[in-house]
Amino acid sequence: MTILVTGGAGYIGSHICVSLLLQGHSVVIIDNFSNSYAEVIERIAAITGKKPVLAKGDIRDRTFLKSVLETYKCSAVIHLAGLKAVGESAHRPLDYYDCNVYGSLCLLQAMQAANVKKFIFSSTATVYGVPQYLPYDEKHPLAPENVYGRSKLMVETIMADLYAADPGWSFSILRYFNPVGAHESGLIGEDPRGHPNNLMPIIAQVAGGRREKLTIWGNDYPTADGTGRRDYIHVADLAEGHVAALAHLEKAGLNIYNLGCGRPYSVFDVIHTFEHISNRPINYDIGPRRAGDIAEFYANAAAAKDKLGWEAKRDLRSMCADMWNFQVKNPQGYQG
Ligand code: NAD
Ligand code: UFG
Repeated sequence: MTILVTGGAGYIGSHICVSLLLQGHSVVIIDNFSNSYAEVIERIAAITGKKPVLAKGDIRDRTFLKSVLETYKCSAVIHLAGLKAVGESAHRPLDYYDCNVYGSLCLLQAMQAANVKKFIFSSTATVYGVPQYLPYDEKHPLAPENVYGRSKLMVETIMADLYAADPGWSFSILRYFNPVGAHESGLIGEDPRGHPNNLMPIIAQVAGGRREKLTIWGNDYPTADGTGRRDYIHVADLAEGHVAALAHLEKAGLNIYNLGCGRPYSVFDVIHTFEHISNRPINYDIGPRRAGDIAEFYANAAAAKDKLGWEAKRDLRSMCADMWNFQVKNPQGYQG
């Protein structure tokens, strides 16, 4: 099959493209490179021996989208393009709704016009909000606490309404927990433009000397060591989850799956594992709690295991080792 991957040059998208190409699919990437680099396409080709087609452009351009879908005869779309920084979303709500909601709407309209009705959507555990119980399962109430999470939930709602109107669609909503790690080759990994916000890329850059220190956002949470606990998932496992979801898009329906490992690690767990793997000290200080952070959350990923036959296989050591390998091979990221 030919699969259109929006945001395919980004961190998660590039790993999905590798998995798809290795499974024998053809891949067309739409990306505007607002948070990625064209070099990624060469790296994907170096890993897989196959070069994805690149259609450089924006998901808010319906005419462009329809033409790409028709020109390359795409059978399904995996939609990752969007803005993803929780903190930034509070200051730039219109940009987030424009890119994440309006962009997704344009994509669904272009798909409808091109009669392509298989769609996998990158959602997030952030849609659940403050845990009513843990682990979160897919039936947990939805109450995102920030603009980013609300933008994702709006797209989930649009998908549900579209499916109610036309059950010919086949939809998979994947709610990611905390993706980390890199491809085992060290050729692709996480290299956001500007200052990273997430824990693991900051730790990797501190270990590699690209950044002076990590600030831990609060050590007074009601957890064993006082720091926030998250369900980290290796990006290669996450990518394989998409291939599994794609195989199940053959039947029409709307399905929602948590993609996580099902166990939480604290900030100190991650620091100590990374120090052990890299043999480098992680310089840190303790700062105040970050606005909107939750003490702990993790996934019940039983639905993905039961229905997709997928479960995460790689552990925290492997996540840190692959992250470190990418950092060592690309000390200044893709531009180095
Ligand atoms: P990323 O920023 O690395 O990738 C997103 C890609 O989309 C980038 O290559 C960017 O250039 C592109 N893009 C952005 N806006 C675009 C537009 N309007 N038109 C075309 N291309 C555009 O982010 P990522 O970490 O790979 O995340 C991918 C998806 O997964 C996002 O939708 C994100 O919200 C979701 N997600 C990420 C995480 C995470 O922690 N990384 C967690 C949950 C969900
Ligand atoms: N943390 C620090 N210092 C930092 C960065 C993070 O102490 O500089 C801590 C946070 O307080 C939290 C943990 O590390 O306890 C993880 O934080 P991240 O920013 O890496 O991840 P979040 O859980 O806040 O959010 C991430 C993505 C969201 C996504 C969510 C669930 O950023 O986009 O996971 O998938 F929605």
